[in-house]
Amino acid sequence: MIKITRIQGFRGVRKFSTTKTRTYDHILTSTPAEGVFQVTLNRPKALNALCTPLIYELRDAMRTADCDSSIGAIVMTGSERAFAAGADIKEMKDMTFAQAYSQEFIKSWSQATDIRKPVLAAVNGYALGGGCELAMMADIIYAGEKAVFGQPEIKLGIIPGAGGTQRLMRAIGKARAMHFILTGDTFTAEQALAWGLVADVYPVSELVPATVRVAQKIAAQGKLAVQAAKEAINYGTTVGLESGLEYERRLFHSLFATSDQKEGMAAFVEKRQANFEDK
Ligand code: CAA
Repeated sequence: MIKITRIQGFRGVRKFSTTKTRTYDHILTSTPAEGVFQVTLNRPKALNALCTPLIYELRDAMRTADCDSSIGAIVMTGSERAFAAGADIKEMKDMTFAQAYSQEFIKSWSQATDIRKPVLAAVNGYALGGGCELAMMADIIYAGEKAVFGQPEIKLGIIPGAGGTQRLMRAIGKARAMHFILTGDTFTAEQALAWGLVADVYPVSELVPATVRVAQKIAAQGKLAVQAAKEAINYGTTVGLESGLEYERRLFHSLFATSDQKEGMAAFVEKRQANFEDK
């Protein structure tokens, strides 16, 4: 049976294919479980270095999945050797200030991950420079036990440009972020777990299936509540406690306007599984 789904932003109904069958040069896409969309960075010869065409493809795939009502969570991963070894140094090496500034170089990266649905990064191997930054743009990071994190930009005569100085500092604290960004040293999955950068660590071959299982669990919840929870947490990372608490409360109040709240609470009282309809 062909599953038909409504794609927000389009008139009418179109086949499931929008998210599933589009092909790209630098990424692979798949739906490994119900409600889960997976993007796999795929430039193996360059250790998934993040060239501009790859970022545009990622942005297209992520935004398409974000608008696909059958998708509830997105897994972003690379290979066992490298999640991504950073922005493409060969692409950047001759770039001038005028080009970087006038083209807002790197801004399109956040457009790739600034979406409503949860993004789970599954990081095996190198997550360096822009690779570490891309992982940190996800909502949750899970790591394989051999993952290597770092912001080595200082060794190239630059600093992180896709959020490294800001997100790493917020995730692991100022002293450690200063250490790693100023020295270019790398850190392990075990350290990343101990410092709260990653949510869990798995054996290399189990990482992606384990992340997909979490994504499937999230995708089975009501999408409105998931979106609100993500929005509240992310808002809280940018403001003080009082504003964050008020924002959370307002979103909490608004969910009482949804059928999913009625269904979720009725299901609890009737001792049955909730059947969320995302409305
Ligand atoms: N850009 C472009 N190409 C890269 C790359 C990158 N970031 N990282 C690796 N590659 C390429 C290498 O040039 C090499 O290609 P060739 O075979 O054509 O020479 C191929 O990938 C394999 O790499 P290595 O031979 O270097 O593999 P290795 O196992 O010896 O080392 C590594 C692995 C430690 C990750 C090393 O490749 C490395 O240090 N890479 C660069 C890491 C880095 O500095 N990242 C930050 C980039 S700047 C940035 O990201 C800015 C920002 O904030 C947005």
